[in-house]
Amino acid sequence: MPTLTITNIRRPGSEKSETLTVENGLIKGWNIKPEGEIIDGNGATLVPAFIEPHAHLREPGQEQKEDLASGLAAAAAGGYGTVVSMPNTSPVVDDPAIVRALIEKAGRLGFARLRPAAALTRGQNGEQLAELSLLAGAGAAVFTDDGRTNENARTLRLGLEYAHSLGLVVSVHAEDAGLRAGGVMNEGAVSEALGLPGNPAAAEAARVARDLEICAMTGGRLHIQHLSTARALDLVRGAKARGVNVTCEVCPHHLLLTDEALRSFDAVYKVAPPLRTQADTEYLLAGLVDGSVDCLATDHAPHTRAEKERDLLEAPSGIAYIEIAFPLLWTHFGKGLGLQKLVELLTVDVARVLGWPAPELEVGQAADFTLLDLDTVRPVQPETFKSKAKFNPWTGQELRGWPVLTVVGGAVAFRRA
Ligand code: DOR
Repeated sequence: MPTLTITNIRRPGSEKSETLTVENGLIKGWNIKPEGEIIDGNGATLVPAFIEPHAHLREPGQEQKEDLASGLAAAAAGGYGTVVSMPNTSPVVDDPAIVRALIEKAGRLGFARLRPAAALTRGQNGEQLAELSLLAGAGAAVFTDDGRTNENARTLRLGLEYAHSLGLVVSVHAEDAGLRAGGVMNEGAVSEALGLPGNPAAAEAARVARDLEICAMTGGRLHIQHLSTARALDLVRGAKARGVNVTCEVCPHHLLLTDEALRSFDAVYKVAPPLRTQADTEYLLAGLVDGSVDCLATDHAPHTRAEKERDLLEAPSGIAYIEIAFPLLWTHFGKGLGLQKLVELLTVDVARVLGWPAPELEVGQAADFTLLDLDTVRPVQPETFKSKAKFNPWTGQELRGWPVLTVVGGAVAFRRA
């Protein structure tokens, strides 16, 4: 692998101009004599490459929505060096051969690294556990039935126990299916005004409460995905205070958008769990600041334009925006969170949640890093996206702070033109 030197870069919080050299996929040295290919960093800020704990890359079987090449290229363009892909594909990722095939294919592509999640239950049927030990042996990074809810409490109990014995986390999409029923948006004043079936905050809170009890009982490692309500965050906070082995993530769309957006009747805003109230968004943001929310995730969930142009009752749930997650976060919350904290929530905090070593930009460590231009303002232009989903709620919005270079394993995975 060629040697690469990035000159004229800064580390967060420092004004000093530095140089980083990488060789054979590893960091060779800071501020040593430049060698190999030289890239001028133009004063941009160097951070560890982001880690995405929750993205839908749709392979195998749903390549009309996304595939490994488009999804991992999109991730690299968003500054992500590693992605945990969700197993709700067709077929479901519940077979070690699929896990191995995904890892092998992603390795050949040269974009972000792939660490696939495998299904907790066979075919994500929620009843019988998948072959967790074989899946872990094949390289599954996490177990989850995300996209579906885990209705059978006993199966979740067994899954948490078994995964824990393998040293892996179980991630859950925490919504009570009975309470959610056919809800297509948050249940509240807006759903009533629009006459649309609502999905109450209690659907999330009730399921989170149940899962926290199961986690406490098993001593397993539970991660709650895309937390969307203040009430559920309170429950997680209380459980953590009691020593329950739980972590949780929040997605930028649950911080930036509310159920008011559904007044447009545009299914681009349809997501599960749904966009909630202003009070929820503020509460979740405060949870990020005070550390009760462990990390950020995008839940990048691409669908075809034709699917998302259906009416709200019929369209599938999901928003896809991995390429603009950092610009959205930096533009809207940069001041409140600060660069250091924001980068932690996208890097070391994700690694901690998943039980991985903390990424560090030290000599001898993997050369996975991202260069951020924190000042330039650009419009969101989905037509330029690597992702197949070329639409999202922020099209045309002017955002500040863009990844300009992503290096994965010492090789350039993305460079902004
Ligand atoms: O909005 C969502 N879309 N939420 C999920 O949990 C699944 C995802 C998908 O697969 O499209």
